[in-house]
Amino acid sequence: MTEQELTDKVVASFDGARDDRFREVMRALVRHAHAFVRETRLTEEEWSAAIAFLTAAGDITTDTRQEFVLLSDVLGVSMLTVAVNEPGDGEATESTVLGPFFVQDSPGIELGGDIAGGASGEPSWVEGRVTGPDGTPVAGARIEVWEADDDGMYDVQYDDGELAGRAHLFTDSEGRYRFWGLTPTPYPIPDDGPVGRLLDHAGRSPLRAPHLHFKVTEPGHRPLITHIFVAGDPGLDADSVFGVKDSLVRPFDRRPAGTPTPDGRRVEGTWTSASFDIVLRKE
Ligand code: BEZ
Ligand code: FE
Repeated sequence: MTEQELTDKVVASFDGARDDRFREVMRALVRHAHAFVRETRLTEEEWSAAIAFLTAAGDITTDTRQEFVLLSDVLGVSMLTVAVNEPGDGEATESTVLGPFFVQDSPGIELGGDIAGGASGEPSWVEGRVTGPDGTPVAGARIEVWEADDDGMYDVQYDDGELAGRAHLFTDSEGRYRFWGLTPTPYPIPDDGPVGRLLDHAGRSPLRAPHLHFKVTEPGHRPLITHIFVAGDPGLDADSVFGVKDSLVRPFDRRPAGTPTPDGRRVEGTWTSASFDIVLRKE
């Protein structure tokens, strides 16, 4: 049997699959996997090393540590899946990667509330408006926000099980929202496992460009998963998961200590402010 005959035979082995989509995806997977082996002339030792790598990824994966998501992220597969499914229409706010640190049941806060909940960092006032594509305000949209503290840690990476640096709030009747968060700082994706070793072997940095995560949902509109990134940050061009889009970069303007805040809150030291208007797509 030639190499091509083998590929054709394996592809054909899915001909009888009951589900059309499953058949299509599995045939394509076999074609591309075989093409990869042929193109690289993969050795048996290399294939064993790949199996050992995937086994290690499985071994380190728990409810709070998902090594396969990290692998998908650093290979750009997560962002390519976003690009294929949320191509952007030039009007709606662009999507980016969800990442592994979203938590379903975040604390609720009032408009103007603080998401820090004990997470350390420079306070940042974030505000904006949620509208539909025609500029109509979207009232009652649920906005989930989450971010790392200034040590580069998400709450789910703390030992104490406390939620911090995350919350949800709802837009007002004009689609407006505002809250206190933390000025985003760079942090490494978890790099003490096989994906970290892969990055190290490649001479790649595990750092993510500083960002603040958003998930915005409202019945009648498509859910939006995105971040905002800090304008001028040197890491924007080297995000380890390829998540940066120019349209999502925002100035976080720094105010000197003592500058009055938008809501009259007293802040020790400097603080920043950022504005992010969000356009949702119709369902
Ligand atoms: C994050 O932004 O939280 C993230 C995204 C991808 C991999 C690791 C972390
Ligand atoms: Fe993040």
